[in-house]
Amino acid sequence: MSAVPILRLGAVKDVQRLRDHLRSIGTNIPCDGELLAGAESPLQWPLVRGGFKFANRIAVQPMEGWDALADGNPSEYTLRRWQRFGSSGASLIWGGEAVAVSHEGRANPHQLVIAPHTHAGLAHLRSALLASYRAATGRSDQPLIGLQLTHSGRFSRPNVHDRPEPKILYHHPILDSRLGLSADSPLLTDEQIAGIVEAFHRGARAASDLGFDFVDIKHCHGYLGHEFLSAHTRPGKYGGSFQNRTRFLREVVEGTRSIAPGLQIAVRLSAFDTVPYRPDPITSSPGKTGVGIPEPHAHLIPYRWGFGLNPLCPTEMELAETKQFLALLEDLEIRLVNLSAGSPYYNPHIQRPAFYPPSDGYQPPEDPLIGVARQMEMVRQLKSQFPQLIVVGTAYSYLQDFLPHVAQAALREGWVDFIGMGRMILSYPGLLRDASEGRTIQHRIVCRTFSDCTTAPRKGLPSGCYPLDEHYKISELAAKLKLAKASRS
Ligand SMILES: Cc1cc2nc3c(=O)[nH]c(=O)nc-3n(C[C@H](O)[C@H](O)[C@H](O)COP(=O)(O)O)c2cc1C
Ligand code: SF4
Repeated sequence: MSAVPILRLGAVKDVQRLRDHLRSIGTNIPCDGELLAGAESPLQWPLVRGGFKFANRIAVQPMEGWDALADGNPSEYTLRRWQRFGSSGASLIWGGEAVAVSHEGRANPHQLVIAPHTHAGLAHLRSALLASYRAATGRSDQPLIGLQLTHSGRFSRPNVHDRPEPKILYHHPILDSRLGLSADSPLLTDEQIAGIVEAFHRGARAASDLGFDFVDIKHCHGYLGHEFLSAHTRPGKYGGSFQNRTRFLREVVEGTRSIAPGLQIAVRLSAFDTVPYRPDPITSSPGKTGVGIPEPHAHLIPYRWGFGLNPLCPTEMELAETKQFLALLEDLEIRLVNLSAGSPYYNPHIQRPAFYPPSDGYQPPEDPLIGVARQMEMVRQLKSQFPQLIVVGTAYSYLQDFLPHVAQAALREGWVDFIGMGRMILSYPGLLRDASEGRTIQHRIVCRTFSDCTTAPRKGLPSGCYPLDEHYKISELAAKLKLAKASRS
């Protein structure tokens, strides 16, 4: 079990109990006592800013499924997930999911790829999403739909699900050994990076031709775009200074603007990070992972392998460079920003607060509500300094039945422009629509952060909500996931 007492939100029936608890653990995130419906609900407020027009404040976060075909085309599972994205009624679909710009850049052998042979499949995902949006909402308008373009960099596993084929920008004193990298493992060369930049240009051009409204140049969660931002120790034109570490972004944007002038560009960013965590061996026992602790790092101060952290105390967030990055986005006339944090690979409690850890994680080192509050507070701070940006916030799923209460309050108090739902979308895509249209919330399908959707892919299975979504619950896959979990303990 965790080292800290954690309120089991699934057992809390009364919103006041949550509000008291939030205060008792020292967080100040807002939480309304009553849910509002229709035009009264901040979730249904329209937004017009920076040339964009949205019908409501609900966003679908990119949620990858590890279920594309070997050639990078969508499968029936992928199609069903995108249809469920549409049924959420969200007016902003942020990327659908991570789509690799090349086979080598896939995070797993079942990630979508954008290439000529997948264009028809990707276009079909978009049109199926639109059809289900219209069928579910009865509206004739359409959400803004983007495609998240990615290269997985250090976390590339294009061919076999448990065989890393990392493409790194610099040697990391903690993460290299986790991936079996030695001190002389090669770095991506500047020439190879130029090839990746071109692959992003081709991907963006294709996304535009296929009718997507924007592309997200992914800069989060430890993947390549994010790794550029922490390439302090890399020699040459992509490392060292802030100017060099953001060169990749500027090159991708510049080429995209010339090759696909009508396409909007967005960025999803890990706004802060922390050193990698691991299970504490003292609290681990056979079949039971220990509580998360930071890897030893006293010998690595000043810490030069992160972005948005204090180099003298790298478990502390520091947003000075993050602000510089957002100012750069404004200079580049990028208005759509999605703020996330950390990485699911090396500090999942930061990235996706959960009660139950994923199979390669650790027991929560803190009440996961503190993780939710940390991301919300970061978003509040950044949004207040960059009011012209359209800011999507992340990591609300842990709030479970009370997600709508917090979402409504955060929007009304101006903490954020959009409530982005990740895991909750897999179990209950219509949660915020139900909540803000006056319908009863279906408690039995509220995400309880069991983490099966993260564990399954670690075992080479498609990602999905095994405990709550009928499609997975009753399938052979659920049995396989149980077997895979059992073989670990
Ligand atoms: C199964 C799964 C797949 C995900 N896929 C992506 C992805 O493709 N791109 C991305 O930026 N984030 C991805 N994420 C992260 C989510 O978008 C989101 O940041 C995270 O789940 C925290 O939000 P939540 O509390 O609403 O779940 C994924 C998360 C999960 C659990
Ligand atoms: S498996 Fe389902 S309940 Fe568990 S975290 Fe994922 S979406 Fe939530």
